[in-house]
Amino acid sequence: MPLFSKGSKKSTPETPKVDEHFRHIAFIMDGNGRWAKKRGKPREYGHKAGSDTFKTICQYCCEVGFKAVTVYAFSTENWKRPRAEVDAIMDILDHYLEELKQNYKQYHSRFKFIGDLSVMTPALREKIVYVEGMNQESDQILNIAFNYGGRSEITHAFNTLTAAGKTTVSEEDIAGALYTKESGDPDMIVRTGGDLRISNFLLWQAAYAELYFTDKLWPDLTTADVDDIIRDFYSRKRRYGGL
Ligand code: IPE
Ligand code: IPE
Ligand code: MG
Repeated sequence: MPLFSKGSKKSTPETPKVDEHFRHIAFIMDGNGRWAKKRGKPREYGHKAGSDTFKTICQYCCEVGFKAVTVYAFSTENWKRPRAEVDAIMDILDHYLEELKQNYKQYHSRFKFIGDLSVMTPALREKIVYVEGMNQESDQILNIAFNYGGRSEITHAFNTLTAAGKTTVSEEDIAGALYTKESGDPDMIVRTGGDLRISNFLLWQAAYAELYFTDKLWPDLTTADVDDIIRDFYSRKRRYGGL
């Protein structure tokens, strides 16, 4: 299924559109393993289902007008999982990158991988570089957080700044050295799977993000749920410490 494809007609007249108040949505895509377990299947089966949901949801987010979508696909802590599960996730990533490369004309958004890619295989890195070069003219961006950790990102930002000769830094310096510097802060972070935590995601950028938690497991999330999320966002009052 094309992701961020041109001319898809999924939206209905009732579909809420987003505007400049809701530019950036982020997802902690949690619950793949439990989804598979409920079906008596191995966890890998849940990750495969989760990757299909990822494509559907990201495409839809593009259609409703988000300028940036950031998804948490693999954390710096997820290496603790059994080797077979990690390998399966890497295979899904490889397959996805291949799909993007082959069908590049169908895609609309830019793609950016955020995280420490230095540990990925050269073959995967090469594909990532290729995919990141696609659609440079697009004003919509999909950030895929892979081997990503918020602490690692902030540490990386400081190291970048000190290597450039900075001895003191401003908040703007730090924000400008983060992987997400082009997308800015998420307006809302959505976590599926029922756990009420951030799990090292976008720690700096989450300062004033609206948080949305749902018990739904990631593979079960639908475009109608995204509509609900959008309506929920617009029912909130963001005060940023003011009145
Ligand atoms: C999220 O689903 C995907 C990754 C962390 C890679 P999980 O694999 O964490 O699924 P649960 O939370 O165990 O159900
Ligand atoms: C968060 O899910 C990471 C991703 C969704 C990629 P986890 O399943 O790794 O988080 P914890 O361990 O429940 O905090
Ligand atoms: Mg989990």
